[in-house]
Amino acid sequence: MVFLRAPPMLFLAMLAAVAVGSPGARLSPSTRQQGSPPLGAPAGPGPAPVPAAPRAPRGNATAPPRGSAPPPPAPRAVRAPLQPPRREKIIFAEEFNKLDPAVWSHLVTAWRGGNQEFQYYRNDRRNSYVRGGVLYLRPTLTAREYGDAFLYTGKMYYPDCNFEPCVSASGADIVLPIQSARIHTSAFSFRYGRLEVRAKLPRGDWIWPAIWLKPATNAYGRWPASGEMDLVESRGNANLKQISTGEPLGVQKVGATLHFGPNSSYNIWRLTHWEKILERGDFADDFHVFGMEWSPVGFRFTVDNEEIGRMAPPQGGFWDLGGFDSNPGGPNIWANGTQLAPFDKKFYIILNVAVGGTFFPGGMVNSPFPRPWNWTSGHPLREFWEHRGWWLPTWKAEHTAMQVDYVRVYQTVT
Ligand SMILES: *[C@@H]1O[C@H](CO)[C@@H](O)[C@H](O)[C@H]1NC(C)=O
Ligand SMILES: *[C@@H]1O[C@H](CO)[C@@H](O)[C@H](O)[C@H]1NC(C)=O
Ligand SMILES: *[C@@H]1O[C@H](CO)[C@@H](O)[C@H](O)[C@H]1NC(C)=O
Ligand SMILES: *[C@@H]1O[C@H](CO)[C@@H](O)[C@H](O)[C@H]1NC(C)=O
Repeated sequence: MVFLRAPPMLFLAMLAAVAVGSPGARLSPSTRQQGSPPLGAPAGPGPAPVPAAPRAPRGNATAPPRGSAPPPPAPRAVRAPLQPPRREKIIFAEEFNKLDPAVWSHLVTAWRGGNQEFQYYRNDRRNSYVRGGVLYLRPTLTAREYGDAFLYTGKMYYPDCNFEPCVSASGADIVLPIQSARIHTSAFSFRYGRLEVRAKLPRGDWIWPAIWLKPATNAYGRWPASGEMDLVESRGNANLKQISTGEPLGVQKVGATLHFGPNSSYNIWRLTHWEKILERGDFADDFHVFGMEWSPVGFRFTVDNEEIGRMAPPQGGFWDLGGFDSNPGGPNIWANGTQLAPFDKKFYIILNVAVGGTFFPGGMVNSPFPRPWNWTSGHPLREFWEHRGWWLPTWKAEHTAMQVDYVRVYQTVT
């Protein structure tokens, strides 16, 4: 999730924390900007007005061949043996019969994901729980537990916080008005394979779910130098549109994105962003299967087995694709990697539900009520909370939860 401007120190700190098995932290998806970029790194410090450029869906900038295309049908063949289907073995299978702390770790933090998000992520069964073989990640209201006055005068801190900052205090703005959850695979990471996640996305204005991956080690440097892969991101709004084009930007649409670049000022995700818009219904009506095939030569993203994007980097790799030789110039930070670098190292899986922040930039129009905050007032959290009459009616019980049926990772048997 992240993207765009990263906030400096936090970021760094986080990243550091995120390193491989480090016990605590993880970053949130990053900052994305505008449209929907994915997660990634954290955004910058201040209110981050995000540019509103419509991101052109360009995904096929580089297209082509990805590895292992199925062999062409054998011509005539006199009883030639059938080509065996590609053989895979499953290397990670989470069916969510329980929420296993040995598999999934919670990020506990007041950090706002680098995107000025509105939630405190905690490890609490009101925000993350399993029922009937399905994981629920559900945002809840801080005021419902602590009272409305607490938002204006209180200080929130959870002792099991594992990522700075740990305190959300009232002051120029109110205490974070939302509680939510973000979990990641703490012991599992993988390099190359096919990821498949069956999930039903949240419905409710200003809710931002994400299923994504971050590098287990920042082998090429801090975000986004070591890459970020976003399998699914969406916005829970039922009636959110791009002002300029009328394109739906809410829960009818999902995006998949790769983030990469020499530093947070150069995150070239627009070249590697793909979308799917449902013609009828939306992604909160029912479960859908989101897939990513990641091989040493490239990527392929699917929704319900339909391909929404594929890419293989040019010979010069992602450095060449991003045009970094001329902008910003300098040495190729991935020179010692493969053609797929930075996506040639292990990544781990993250599931989270954020609320608000810069993933909802200007350039979008919501109906019937506009975005209930802006970045110039100095207290976007308070504006969001005090305009809850605009959005809370769209938050209906468990429909605000991202529901995940399974997470599976396969690798080809060689
Ligand atoms: C991308 O795909 C679209 C639709 O298939 C096509 O019209 C467009 O020309 C492609 N762009 C590039 C750069 O390949
Ligand atoms: C990113 O790199 C460019 C070129 O080296 C530099 O000018 C810019 O300040 C860097 N940005 C950040 C956030 O480090
Ligand atoms: C590549 O490896 C060489 C030899 O270890 C090292 O000197 C160089 O700094 C590395 N380049 C990058 C971009 O990491
Ligand atoms: C944005 O903030 C300014 C300053 O507080 C306020 O006057 C204005 O009404 C806000 N706009 C919206 C759309 O909330």
